[in-house]
Amino acid sequence: MKMLKVVEKRKSVREYKMSDLDEKTLEQVVNLTKKIPVIDESVGVEFRFIIDGSEISQQLQGISGYYGKMIVAPHYFAVYADKNIASYKYAGYAGEWIILNAAKLNLGTCWIEAGDSAKAKAAVGYATDKELVAFIAVGWPSHETNLSAIYNSRDINSASSLTDRGYPDVKTGLGAEKESPRMAITEFVYLKTWESMLTFDELNRRGLDEAFYYMRLAPSWGNRQPWRFILDGERIVLAVQKDEALNEPVENIDAGIAMLYFEVAMHDLGISGNWKLSEDKKDEYKIPEDYFVVGYYSM
Ligand SMILES: Cc1cc2nc3c(=O)[nH]c(=O)nc-3n(C[C@H](O)[C@H](O)[C@H](O)COP(=O)(O)O)c2cc1C
Repeated sequence: MKMLKVVEKRKSVREYKMSDLDEKTLEQVVNLTKKIPVIDESVGVEFRFIIDGSEISQQLQGISGYYGKMIVAPHYFAVYADKNIASYKYAGYAGEWIILNAAKLNLGTCWIEAGDSAKAKAAVGYATDKELVAFIAVGWPSHETNLSAIYNSRDINSASSLTDRGYPDVKTGLGAEKESPRMAITEFVYLKTWESMLTFDELNRRGLDEAFYYMRLAPSWGNRQPWRFILDGERIVLAVQKDEALNEPVENIDAGIAMLYFEVAMHDLGISGNWKLSEDKKDEYKIPEDYFVVGYYSM
C-alpha cells in the first residue's frame, strides 16, 4: 500500500479494545522501531514498547494526556529524546513513521503528550538521561469501522480524493463521521514571503497541490496545524508556530511530523528531495516572531 493511502486513512484513535495484540502483530509493531529511516546520526531518540498498557495508564493518569487525562490503551510506545531540538524533531518524524506503518497493519494509534517528563519517567520506571517527550497509544480500535470510514463514506460522485476536503465550496463525503477539520491549502502556503498567498491554480501549475493536500492531514497537538510553508524556487521553507502553552518537545514533535508528511507526499508523488534543518533567512522571508523556522525541503 502506498504511504499516501495510509496518510488518508490515519486518524487518532482514543478508544481501544483492551485485549493484547496477538504475538505476530506485536512482533511486527515492535520491529518497526528497527526500520525507522535515519535523518541525522547526531540525534538521540529511543522508542520503548510498553506491553502492559492498562497498568501504566493508571500510573500516568493526572500526568500525561490533555489535562492529565491519559488515553487508556493495551500498549504504548514511550518516546524518549535527548534534550535538544533536533532530537525532539526526530522524535516527531520517527514516531509518525511508526504511526503510519502501524496504520498499514490497521492498528489504531494516538500521540499522547507526556506532561511532566520527570513524573512520567518515574511512572514508567525506565532510567535514562533522555527526556520522556510523548507516548504513542497502540491497539485495535474499539470501533473498527472508524479507521476505514474515510474511504467508505467518500462521495461516489467525487472526481478524485483531491476534490474532497480542503477545497472551498466542495462538499466532503464524510457524512457524520468524526474527523478533525483541517485548513485549506491556500491558507498555509505562501510564495516568497510571509502571507503572500497563492491561488489553488498557481499551486496546481507548480505541481505541488497534491503534496500539500496530503500534508495538511498531518496530526498536531490540539489539531493546531501550526505549519506554514514558503515557496522559494527549489526551496520549500517550513515554519512552525510556537505556543506559550506548549513546551519545546511538543512544538518540535509537531514540526517533525510535518516534515515526514511532506516528504512522504513528495516522494510518493515522484518528486525527489530532502529536508535540511536550518533556521536561516527568517527575516528575509518576514516570518513573524511567534514562528520558528524548521528548515527547508530542497527539491
Ligand atoms: C505531539 C502531540 C501530542 C498529542 N497529545 C494528545 C493527547 O494528549 N491526547 C489526545 O487525545 N490527543 C493528542 N494528540 C492528538 C491530536 O489531538 C490529533 O492529532 C489532532 O486533533 C488531529 O486529529 P487526527 O490525528 O485524528 O487527524 C496529540 C498529537 C500530537 C501531534
